[in-house]
Amino acid sequence: MTATIIDGKAIAQAVKRNLKGEADQLKGKGVIPSLTVVLVGNHPASESYVKGKIRASEEVGINSQLIRLESSISERALLDQIEQLNADPSVHGILVQLPLPDHINPDRVIATISPAKDVDGFTPINVGNLVIGQEAFLPCTPFGIMELLKQSGTEIAGKHAVVVGRSNIVGKPISLLLQRADATVTMCHSRTVDLASYTRQADILIAAVGRPEMLTREHVKPGAVVIDVGVNRHHGKLVGDVKFDEVKEIASAITPVPGGVGPMTIAMLMRNTVEAAKRIGK
Ligand code: GUN
Repeated sequence: MTATIIDGKAIAQAVKRNLKGEADQLKGKGVIPSLTVVLVGNHPASESYVKGKIRASEEVGINSQLIRLESSISERALLDQIEQLNADPSVHGILVQLPLPDHINPDRVIATISPAKDVDGFTPINVGNLVIGQEAFLPCTPFGIMELLKQSGTEIAGKHAVVVGRSNIVGKPISLLLQRADATVTMCHSRTVDLASYTRQADILIAAVGRPEMLTREHVKPGAVVIDVGVNRHHGKLVGDVKFDEVKEIASAITPVPGGVGPMTIAMLMRNTVEAAKRIGK
């Protein structure tokens, strides 16, 4: 079997096209969706991510604003900046790009963002609402994975999903979302003993461990749907957590890196921003 390649780039384009229509409708009501990105310092990967977010905002018709702050900024001054954005009715979405410099506590910064403007879905209120099944802004990467599974026609209910990775941004929330969609979920991580004995049982395998090409054909059940969240630079090449060339020969569907989950993360950030504008602009 050769896997269907799940084209995240094309699916993300379709999501953004739909959002453009919604943003145009909002504009007709006098509400222009707006996103403010706060970038502290000039971490090269962050610069590139932020550029992608600003470009996508333009495509969708979201007003974007980039606030650049020196890496020497005090934590207090950054918190003051966020509080100002919280109070500004023309700002619908706030995103503080991570990582932050070492002298700033990221948990304190995130907790300061108004949950109603938290389009990353990182604040304790949104995370808590996700856990108890209440309405919440969902973190963009897991939200994007759920959309990829939906658009690729992957059945989730009753299936065994195995998640490799337990981060706050991906592993934990995707486990909850899959469970909410009636999958039976197993969570594994970098310290799991005999990882393959778990992953080989997966109908849906989510690789989010951050180790280049760690999951090989020995880890995958024939016919599984494999979602690769990894973005690793390896011997000068961008690779995922899955050994793509091997695994695509036995999986039924697989996401490539790049062009799989990555574009969906940004598309879902746009979705959350339009949603925030709908709620705040009412
Ligand atoms: N840095 C890497 N990924 C992300 C993300 O999804 N959101 C934010 N704010 N920072 C990040």
